[in-house]
Amino acid sequence: MNADSRTRLNQTPEWQALARHREELGDVQLRELFAASPGRGAGYTLAVGDLHVDYSKHLVTDDTLRLLRELAAATDVFGLRDAMFRGEKINTTENRAVLHTALRAPRDAVIEVDGENVVPGVHAVLDKMAAFSEKVRSGEWTGHTGKRIKNIVNIGIGGSDLGPAMAYEVLRSYTDRDLTVRFVSNVDGADLHEAVRDLDPAETLFVIASKTFTTIETITNATSARDWLLTELKAGQEAVARHFVALSTNAEKVSDFGIDTANMFEFWDWVGGRYSYDSAIGLSLMIAVGPDRFREMLDGFRLVDEHFRTAPAESNVPLLLGLLGVWYGNFHDAQSHAVLPYSHYLSKFTAYLQQLDMESNGKYVGRDGQPVEWQTGPVVWGTPGTNGQHAYYQLIHQGTKLIPADFIGFAEPVADLLPGLVAQHDLLMANFFAQTQALAFGKTPDEVRAEGVPEELVPHKTFKGNHPTTTILAKELTPSVLGQLIALYEHKVFVQGAIWNIDSFDQWGVELGKVLAKRVEPALTEGAEVPGLDASTTSLVAKYRQLRGR
Ligand code: F6P
Repeated sequence: MNADSRTRLNQTPEWQALARHREELGDVQLRELFAASPGRGAGYTLAVGDLHVDYSKHLVTDDTLRLLRELAAATDVFGLRDAMFRGEKINTTENRAVLHTALRAPRDAVIEVDGENVVPGVHAVLDKMAAFSEKVRSGEWTGHTGKRIKNIVNIGIGGSDLGPAMAYEVLRSYTDRDLTVRFVSNVDGADLHEAVRDLDPAETLFVIASKTFTTIETITNATSARDWLLTELKAGQEAVARHFVALSTNAEKVSDFGIDTANMFEFWDWVGGRYSYDSAIGLSLMIAVGPDRFREMLDGFRLVDEHFRTAPAESNVPLLLGLLGVWYGNFHDAQSHAVLPYSHYLSKFTAYLQQLDMESNGKYVGRDGQPVEWQTGPVVWGTPGTNGQHAYYQLIHQGTKLIPADFIGFAEPVADLLPGLVAQHDLLMANFFAQTQALAFGKTPDEVRAEGVPEELVPHKTFKGNHPTTTILAKELTPSVLGQLIALYEHKVFVQGAIWNIDSFDQWGVELGKVLAKRVEPALTEGAEVPGLDASTTSLVAKYRQLRGR
C-alpha cells in the first residue's frame, strides 16, 4: 500500500471491517467474554524476555485481533519496521535514519547509514563512557581542587533529561549510594538552585546533555552552573575542564561553550532525543549504576528489539500493544491511555512515556503532508498505581470516559529493600491484582444488593466494569527488565505511527513556542514592542511588567 492510499486509511477494507466488527460487538462485556471462554485468562497472554503480558482483560475477541493484524499487514507495519532496522531514512521530514536500535546492537553487527557502518562508533562511545564512569566512580577523576567527585548534576531537557532521570530512579537500588545524582531541566532558576544549593562545587560534576547544544533552557542552566562553579571555587575558565562534560551531536557548540571536546560524548542525528537515553545521553546513569549494569540494560533493549524484528504477528508483543491502542483510540473513541506502575521506582516512568508517545505520535498531518482523518496519539498519563487509587482511580472506575490502562508490576521487591519492608510487597501487589479485576468485572447492582446496601445507594455502589487493562508482570525490576520495558513502548509507539501514517520521529510542534518565547522576552525585560503581538498577550505582558515593578 502506498503512502497516498494510507492517508485514506479509514477507507480501506481492513479499517471498514474493523468498524463493522466494532458495531457487531456492541456493548460486549468482559464478564461474557470470560464466561464464554474459560481458557481466556491464561490463553490471552504473551511473553517477551522477562515480561509476562496478559491482554485477556481487553474488549477483544480472536476476530478483533485477527482484523487488527490485517490492518497492520495492510499498512505494512513490518515493512516500515524492517526499513527502520536497516537504517533507511524513514524520518522523512528531517531526512534522517531512525536507528536507536543500533545503540544496543552487538559489537559485530553491521548497520549502515549512507554506506557507513555505525556500530563501531556506538561501541567506541560506550567504551569511552565506561572508562570515564569508572574514573568518576573510583575517585580517579577529581575536580579542579583535587577533591573526589561526589555529586553529578545532569543538565538537559526533554529527551536529554527524562530518560536518564527516569532510569536513575528505576535503578536506584543498583546505584552507588555515595554519589548524589540530580537532574536539572527547567529554565526556572529554582530547579538549578535546589539542585546545587547544598553541594560543594569542588566535588560536583556537571553533565550537560543536549543533542543540539542550542536548547535555550539547557544552555541557560549550563551557563548559570558554570558561573556558580567558577564563582564558588574562585577559579578561572581552566576549572571548567574538570567539572563539565558534554553529551551532544554538536562538537562546535560544545567547544564554543568552553567544554574540551575530549570531554564530549558523542551521538548522532539518527538518534531521536526521546529515543536517546541508551546513547551517550545515559552517561549520568552509567556513572550512577556502573558500566556493567548499563550494558545489562542495553541487553534488555536488544532482546525486545530482536523480538519485535522477528516474532510473527500473532506473538509480537509491541505489535499487539500498538494494535490495542488503535482499537480503543480509533474504534472506541478513547482519548487517553493510563500507565500505572506498581513500583515506587517507576515514579517517573509515565512522564518519560509522555514524551516518547506524545512527541512521537501527537501529529495531525500524515507522511504525505495531508491532514489525517482519524485520531492519532492518545494523551498518556498516570503515576504509581497505589497513589493513584486514592486520587483519580474513582474516575477510571465510575467516570464516563473509557481509559485503557497498562498495569506494570513485579513479583519480587527490589533486592536491597530493608528486610522489615519486604512483607509490604504482597500488599502492594494485592492492590495491583485487585484493581484490574475490579476494572474488568465491576460489581453488579444485584451483588451490591446482596450485601444489604439500601436501594437508594445501589447505583452509587455499582461498578459497571468493562474497563480494559493490560497487565505486564515480571519477576524483578532489573536493569535488563527496564531496557525491555522501554524498548517495548518504543516499538509500540512505532507500530501506531506506522498505522496512522505519520512521521513518529520529528517534532515540529514544539518549534512555534520556542520562536515566540524569543520574540516575547525583550517585551518582558525591556518593554520592547513586539510587532504583531496579539491583544491578549500584549495585555498580559503589561500586567507582568506592572507586577514586577517595571
Ligand atoms: O522540545 C523538543 C526537543 O527537541 C526534544 O525532542 C528534545 O528531546 C529536547 O527538545 C531537548 O533537545 P536537545 O537534546 O537538543 O537539547
